[in-house]
Amino acid sequence: MKGIILAGGLGSRLHPLTKITNKHLLPVYDRPMIYYPIEALVNAGIDDIMIVTGGKKSGDFLSLLGNGSDFGLKHLNYTYQEGEGGIAEALGLCEHWASDDDICVILGDNLIERNIKKAVTDFCEQERGAKIMLKEVHDPERFGVATLSGDSVVEIVEKPSEPVSNLAVIGIYMYDNRVFEIIKTLVPSDRGELEITDVNNWYIEDKSMTFEVLEGWWTDAGTFSSLHRSASLVAEGGANRRD
Ligand code: G1P
Repeated sequence: MKGIILAGGLGSRLHPLTKITNKHLLPVYDRPMIYYPIEALVNAGIDDIMIVTGGKKSGDFLSLLGNGSDFGLKHLNYTYQEGEGGIAEALGLCEHWASDDDICVILGDNLIERNIKKAVTDFCEQERGAKIMLKEVHDPERFGVATLSGDSVVEIVEKPSEPVSNLAVIGIYMYDNRVFEIIKTLVPSDRGELEITDVNNWYIEDKSMTFEVLEGWWTDAGTFSSLHRSASLVAEGGANRRD
C-alpha cells in the first residue's frame, strides 16, 4: 500500500495567509500543517509516500521535508500539480508512480487524533474497491456528505445545501488501482474541478465501497475557523496518537 498526500491548490479560503506560501506549510500549533498527514500515514505503517504539491512555493516542501528523516523515512516522493484542477486531478498525477499498488490518499489539510491503522489493514484484506472514512460533524454542508442504508453507503453529495445526514466524508480515501481509469472518465464540476466525490460515487455504484466511522477527532484546516480549531485540538490533546 502506497500513501499519497495532496498538498496543491491555491488555499484561497486562507488569503492573505496563502498569498506568499502554500497552505500546507502554514503552522498548526507547533508544526507545519503538512507534518500531520505524513505522521498519520507513517503511524498506519505506510512508508512509501508521494506528496503532490503546487504553486510558486512548491520548492519549500523539499527544503522543509527533505527525504523525510523527521518521520523516520529514508525517502519521500514529490510531484507537481499545475493550477487548481481538484483533488481527483491531483491524484491522477500519481498513476505512473502508484503502478499496480493500492493507495491511501490523505488531504494535506486534514488532521486526525487517532491511528487509522485498523482501517488500512481492513482495506488490505478487502479484495477490491475503495474505503472512505466518515465522521459526524455539526456543519455537513461544508463537506462531502454520505447517505447510509444499513451497512452500506448509498450516495455521497458534495457540499449539499440541505444535507441528509451529518456524516462528512473526511479527506482520507483508500482505492484499488482502478481509480486511475475512473479519474480519466470524470468531467469538471461547477467549481471547475475533478471531484473526489465523483470517484467515490463510482465505487458506490460498483458496490465495492466500504466505510468506517473515524474514532477520535478530525478536522480540516482550510478555513480561518478550522485552522484555529486545528491548533487548539493539537495544543489540548495532540494529533496522531499511536493507538
Ligand atoms: C474536500 C472534498 C470533500 C471532503 C473534504 C474533507 O473538500 O471535496 O468531499 O469532505 O475535502 O476535508 P474541499 O476541501 O476541496 O472543499
